[in-house]
Amino acid sequence: MKTIAGFLSGITVLITTFMSCTNTSTNTAPAAGISKQPFGEADGKPVDLYTLTNKNGVQVKISTYGGVITSWITPDKNGKQSSIVLGFDSLSGYLAKPPYFGALIGRYGNRIANGKFKIGDSTYTLATNNGKNSLHGGNKGFDKVVWTAATPNDSVASLALSYLSKDGEEGYPGNLQVNVVYTLTPDNELEITYDATTDKATPINLTQHSYFNLTGDHANTILGHKLQLDADYYTPVDTSLIPTGELKAVKGTPFDFTSPHLIGERIDSVPGGYDHNFVLNSKDGSLHQAATLTDSVSGRKLEVFTTEPGIQFYSGNFLNGSIKDNSGKPFNQHTGMCLETQHFPNSPNEPKFPNTILKPGEKYHTVTKYKISW
Ligand code: BGC
Repeated sequence: MKTIAGFLSGITVLITTFMSCTNTSTNTAPAAGISKQPFGEADGKPVDLYTLTNKNGVQVKISTYGGVITSWITPDKNGKQSSIVLGFDSLSGYLAKPPYFGALIGRYGNRIANGKFKIGDSTYTLATNNGKNSLHGGNKGFDKVVWTAATPNDSVASLALSYLSKDGEEGYPGNLQVNVVYTLTPDNELEITYDATTDKATPINLTQHSYFNLTGDHANTILGHKLQLDADYYTPVDTSLIPTGELKAVKGTPFDFTSPHLIGERIDSVPGGYDHNFVLNSKDGSLHQAATLTDSVSGRKLEVFTTEPGIQFYSGNFLNGSIKDNSGKPFNQHTGMCLETQHFPNSPNEPKFPNTILKPGEKYHTVTKYKISW
């Protein structure tokens, strides 16, 4: 059943309506801007749901709980609107801990082996929540906290979220001040900037965990989507999904997405399905195209640009139908897939991987853009 109690309880507050519409002569363009609604309560704090809208009918809803993208509505090639991400329309769906649906991930995206790492002479022990490993920040990562929201810029549809992760949280050293800004542009890009500073050296690897399904209906799998990745190498993993440390060439393997391939084409020869970090070819930290995902039925295309050196392609292998949407429809295996821009998993224990240790006085800054067209 649809749970809309949280929505009905509050009055929608229109904060601003601003972005200039080029076709002001017609009234057909949706109101561009940002609005907020109450979305319930977590940890005794009120949670809000912000809606970012642009003039082309793209609408992204983001919760202050976990910075979660709950829905991302776009037209398809026939103009039919639907959400391209898996999500719930009530907070209770998220409080039941779905596997990171739509969430901001931190302090460290993906796994740290045995929940341990060393910085200098100090060994740190993290909360382990994935067998013996620590995954996506531990038991209560940034996906399960209430972020503070601001709408800083009145000329763009931007939502700024901030969170202070305290020294020792989930075992991580240092007070880490994190700021994430989501901006929906008139060009149908969702830009995400991640900034952070710390007062003690700490690992950091922030990312976004939306599960995409470009058909707009999770009755369909993503096996018929075509994926291209700008990656000649990937990081093979052991049985607990920790990278072995090797960078392996994708050429001649089912991991070769340097030209577009259907996801279902070779997935059966990847034990467990795709859940791997790809090493992006661009190494200079500039914003570059990392991935292109297309669905020929809806005509939708998703392009991913990032300053990060890696991208985790996860084909929704562990979804098994046990979690259901608000109408009771199950999220079955491969009905969503993630393209998580990131540094490599377990980097704090792999000196040859790009550095993930942020020191006091340094500024963490990464940018990722998801551009949708149809
Ligand atoms: C990981 C998967 C994990 C999933 C959780 C992905 O980022 O790579 O191994 O199961 O997140 O939903």
